[in-house]
Amino acid sequence: MRYQKLPSALYQRNRAAFMEAMKPRSISVFFSSDIYPTSADGTLPFKQATDMFWLTGVDQEETVLLLFPDAHIPADREILFTLETNKELAIWEGAKLDKAQAKGQTGIGQIQWVPAFQRTLQRLMAEADALYLNDNPHTRAIRVVETRTDRENAKLRSEYPTYEIERSAPILFSLRAIKSQEEVEQMQRACDITKAGFERVLQFVKPGVIEYEIEAEFMHEFLRRGSRGFAYTPIIGSGSNACVLHYVENSNECKAGDVILIDVGAEYGNYAADMTRCIPVSGKFTDRQRDVYNAVLSVMRDAMKLLRPGVILREYHVQVGELMTKQLLSLGLITADDVTNQNPASPAYKKYFMHGTSHFIGLDVHDVGHWHEPIRAGHVFTVEPGIYIREENLGIRLENDILITEDGFVDLMGHIPLEADDIEAMMAG
Ligand code: GLY
Ligand code: MN
Ligand code: MN
Repeated sequence: MRYQKLPSALYQRNRAAFMEAMKPRSISVFFSSDIYPTSADGTLPFKQATDMFWLTGVDQEETVLLLFPDAHIPADREILFTLETNKELAIWEGAKLDKAQAKGQTGIGQIQWVPAFQRTLQRLMAEADALYLNDNPHTRAIRVVETRTDRENAKLRSEYPTYEIERSAPILFSLRAIKSQEEVEQMQRACDITKAGFERVLQFVKPGVIEYEIEAEFMHEFLRRGSRGFAYTPIIGSGSNACVLHYVENSNECKAGDVILIDVGAEYGNYAADMTRCIPVSGKFTDRQRDVYNAVLSVMRDAMKLLRPGVILREYHVQVGELMTKQLLSLGLITADDVTNQNPASPAYKKYFMHGTSHFIGLDVHDVGHWHEPIRAGHVFTVEPGIYIREENLGIRLENDILITEDGFVDLMGHIPLEADDIEAMMAG
């Protein structure tokens, strides 16, 4: 692997916490992702299912995990099934994990080759009453493709129709949302790599560069630092493109006088960074651009202070909306009348700030977590207010990733240039 792996003790702790939450006499199973086909014999790069990664650290396809805390034989409590290297695989792809390596990476005592899964499960189901299956209840999950987990779940439901079925996802949503020290360090590395990319870009941008050339500068810096690339499709939008929230074409020329919105984050060891910065193509903001920039920055800084243990994300979003309303009033974008007459279900500020301010981040960019439960220390969130003014060809969003602590937060991106003056100084330097 090109990244520094986290210790097996982390995965042992993760599994222990999951098993602690399982009902008595139950088995849970987890599957790696498929390698997704494109066309002809093409595939997308392998991306491990994040739950499998969180539970094992195994970054390899064709992997199955079985957990059975009440198994009579202690060696059957955790079993990992992996892909065996055959001659063909060794020649074309290189060796997969052998049993000793799989054991070393995961801390799981019993490793079997993956064809043994069904037989082993059948033997253990005789001792169990319930089966935990995993699914993806993310509110924005896209369901057009059947995942390996969907496929295996359907098979298991038909093979074991009389067993109780339980769901793993709600447990994982709670557990994965709290980041361990080791995970925070890995996320910090993703943020550090993102910083290096951004600083390179500050030296690179001048009138006439194409948005995708900026994308290339980031990619260069990410790959040379052990990242496998972007944690999500980068958005690099100059001028009015900044107002297209999911602009990913990145194909326009950056013109003098425009501001470029750059929403880019590195992945590192499967953990995501998610950063947004806005920089002036000519190296200097106009007064108006700076006013809008500082309005967004002010909301961002105040919003960070609101995120603390005990707060409910939905209520926090209402408070951020109030902060944004004040800024939009002083920028003259909305009027006091607009606010007085606003529909509470769609407040006036939404005309210029139409997305959420924060989401969980971790192994997934929009990471799993329970939105209706109080925030806890160990949660990591983005903070990303924005103001998008189409009529002025100007969109400003600023985004950092912060770790919630018992008494406040740690800004994992606090070292990345953010103040307008600092951006200008680095572009000039
Ligand atoms: N880059 C995706 C987001 O900011 O949520
Ligand atoms: Mn984000
Ligand atoms: Mn972002």
